[in-house]
Amino acid sequence: MREVLCKKMVEVLEGLTCEQLQALVEVPADEKLGDYALPCFTLAKVQRKNPALIAAELAEKLEAAKEALGLARVQSVGGYCNLFVDRKGYVESGMNKMLQENLGVEQIGKGKTICMDYSSPNIAKNFHVGHLRTTVIGNSLYKIHEKLGYEVVRINYLGDWGTQFGKLITAYKKWSSKEAVEKGGIEELLRIYVKFTEEAEKAPQLIEEARAWFVKMEKNDEEALEIWNWFKEISMVEFERVYKMLGMSFDCYSGESHYRNKVSALAKELEGKGLLEESQGAKVIDLGAYDMPPCLIMKSDGGSIYHSRDIAALLDRKKKYDFSKCLYVTGMEQTLHFKQVFKAIELMGYPWYENLVHIPFGLVSLAGEKLSTRNGNIVYAEDILKEAVERAGALIEEKNPTLQNKVEVAHMVGIGAVVFHDLYNQRIKNVDFSWEDVLSFEGTTGPYVQYTYARAGSVLQKYGEVSGNAVVDYSVLTDDVTFSLVKTLLGYENAVNNAAEKYEPSVVARYLIALAMAFNRFYHECPILKASEKERQARVLLVKQVQKVLADGCGLLGLECPEEM
Ligand code: ARG
Repeated sequence: MREVLCKKMVEVLEGLTCEQLQALVEVPADEKLGDYALPCFTLAKVQRKNPALIAAELAEKLEAAKEALGLARVQSVGGYCNLFVDRKGYVESGMNKMLQENLGVEQIGKGKTICMDYSSPNIAKNFHVGHLRTTVIGNSLYKIHEKLGYEVVRINYLGDWGTQFGKLITAYKKWSSKEAVEKGGIEELLRIYVKFTEEAEKAPQLIEEARAWFVKMEKNDEEALEIWNWFKEISMVEFERVYKMLGMSFDCYSGESHYRNKVSALAKELEGKGLLEESQGAKVIDLGAYDMPPCLIMKSDGGSIYHSRDIAALLDRKKKYDFSKCLYVTGMEQTLHFKQVFKAIELMGYPWYENLVHIPFGLVSLAGEKLSTRNGNIVYAEDILKEAVERAGALIEEKNPTLQNKVEVAHMVGIGAVVFHDLYNQRIKNVDFSWEDVLSFEGTTGPYVQYTYARAGSVLQKYGEVSGNAVVDYSVLTDDVTFSLVKTLLGYENAVNNAAEKYEPSVVARYLIALAMAFNRFYHECPILKASEKERQARVLLVKQVQKVLADGCGLLGLECPEEM
């Protein structure tokens, strides 16, 4: 809407380009100051004129052309030109667009493929809250891009290779058993890994043993690979359980081990391109010219490493999917790693290095109430999710004990609460987890949005469904409160686009809160029961659209909406 307005305004205001206008036109925080405003201060500087004078001149021009611009009124106040849209026309064209396919969201990604690398937990290690963040943020960015028409390949790049597995096999042989691992799962693997670290301090020859086991793995020794594979299967069972709880899945699991044999070819390519150097027996790419430590490609024993496996994986993904972008969602602490990897791709002469994006996020801190932990301060994602579902169940028991499908609703609300809480703030910010914030039915929470969805549903149940193409008199939707809701509603496409552009699901989360708030205000102030038939029909149509967008937006974040709660 803003874009359309700017395009039309250019024709009236000579001397200004569409880009300039787009950069200038803003939406005033106070709706009384217009639907849009054009601040004239930058123009005043350039033209060396009084801003109020410029605003008055522009207002006059715009006022004269207001019908063509879709404006009802233009007003200059101080250095601002305040624009009030013609509400009926605005509502009508906006609602018509939204009633089309895909809620009016344009398919700007059609024909383009995006690879997304996220979640990617390490086998034999617990799935902790950090992995929960990458999973939730990654899943949301996948949904957002899919909404825009992109083909998205969801890749789970499991951490399933590295010297730690030599240690683990050594520890298993010494201090565990088949039965113990089968019974204890990752818990047992973690226990023996910790024991290894402790014991190795006293008996350094353990390190040698571990190294020997890893060398066996790299040489495809049958026994070594069998044990490793078994640990992987055990880990996968636990990871899958978490994914199932979240209702999230992947298109492929292609972990680090997949690329362990591709690194010698990579080294050859790098050598041919004059990029490989020896450093203490290892092979590296020198990145000193870019103020980065060298990128390790091959260890002195010829083995691969995290960096080189990532580079090999990228070359493979480009070949397989010809992606227009490849996105990586990991914690901030891996920023340097990805800078090095992307630089290596650039130095190899691949122009698509520009399409590689690292999407970092902040830490989760656990202030406030103590969370249940299974050992020490490691917080398991699964424990948080389970507890959230339990707490949501207890809340339902208290507030709505006769609810039909309590178990399902508790699941949707509990999981939704955690997911929403994770996505509500900018991803780079640290998340401070407190149960009170997460599960509140008021304020900026998932349950609040879900509750609003259910409320909209109950309105529709009471006042009847209207078909999407009923002839509606949109002039009914132009009073202040309703119009404010319509404007928010119609901002959906913009929110989805912004979220994708910034790789920021919080834009959608915040949009949903704004929509829920605008809807609840409308709900309290605009009766449907006592309305005339004409009003009722238009309002019901609006409620229906709001309900659809709430559910759709929740879906983009990974939340499900119960019909009743
Ligand atoms: N496994 C890593 C971790 O748990 C994350 C992997 C991220 N993806 C990648 N291609 N390096 O920290």
